[in-house]
Amino acid sequence: MSRKLIIVMLVAGMLVSAGCGSIQAQAVPATPVPAAADVQEPQNVPATAQEIKPTQTGAEKTMREPSRENTAVVVFFSATGTTRGVAEKIAALTGAELAEIVPAQLYTAEDLDYNDGTTRATVEQNTPDARPEIANDIDLSGYTTVYLGYPIWWGQAPRILSSFVESHDFTGMTVIPFCTSASSGAGRTGEALGEQAGTGTFLSSTRLSAGISDADLQNWIDKQK
Ligand SMILES: Cc1cc2nc3c(=O)[nH]c(=O)nc-3n(C[C@H](O)[C@H](O)[C@H](O)COP(=O)(O)O)c2cc1C
Repeated sequence: MSRKLIIVMLVAGMLVSAGCGSIQAQAVPATPVPAAADVQEPQNVPATAQEIKPTQTGAEKTMREPSRENTAVVVFFSATGTTRGVAEKIAALTGAELAEIVPAQLYTAEDLDYNDGTTRATVEQNTPDARPEIANDIDLSGYTTVYLGYPIWWGQAPRILSSFVESHDFTGMTVIPFCTSASSGAGRTGEALGEQAGTGTFLSSTRLSAGISDADLQNWIDKQK
């Protein structure tokens, strides 16, 4: 082998060796390492669901989440507080929740003046299809017994009770109507509300006096079962 040929082979070998090194470097890319500033700790993540505090309280909360043990609710409308008083007694004796039907437009003393045939309550009662708007949403899901209280206005349930029963589904529920009045009886008001509701089992209504004793009220409650 000539000296010239040996030099050419040596140079060629060096060039091939350098090229292979370059290919290997490209075939194994470097793994990116995040900068310290890019690594974020999770923040404000509660460890358990219990750490999220409910914002609702009292009847409002239990109306939406009735407990399994408590399947009864006392729903009432009361313009001057008499029916409310009886409703509260029923709730206390039965352990039922309480929910008030609140009119979107509250009744003033003038609205309730039944000596004047032109005032609001009397005009509504003389208008069978009057349906006063209700301000609050009463969720009946989960309840199987609904005590439904109202005053007697001109021998009937106030029209806002029609608004209530027509806008709720009472399927699978027993509705126990009761009322207060100056002296009139309940008449067929319970049956009439049941017909307007079209769902659920509505019992006959009972007039309960404002001053009813716990013993008499318990006796009435027991008879509804
Ligand atoms: C417009 C109006 C009509 C009424 N009509 C009757 C009636 O026909 N018979 C009766 O005994 N009492 C009647 N009352 C009296 C109420 O039924 C009674 O005061 C009731 O207990 C009021 O309940 P509350 O305080 O829950 O609203 C009427 C009251 C109003 C305001």
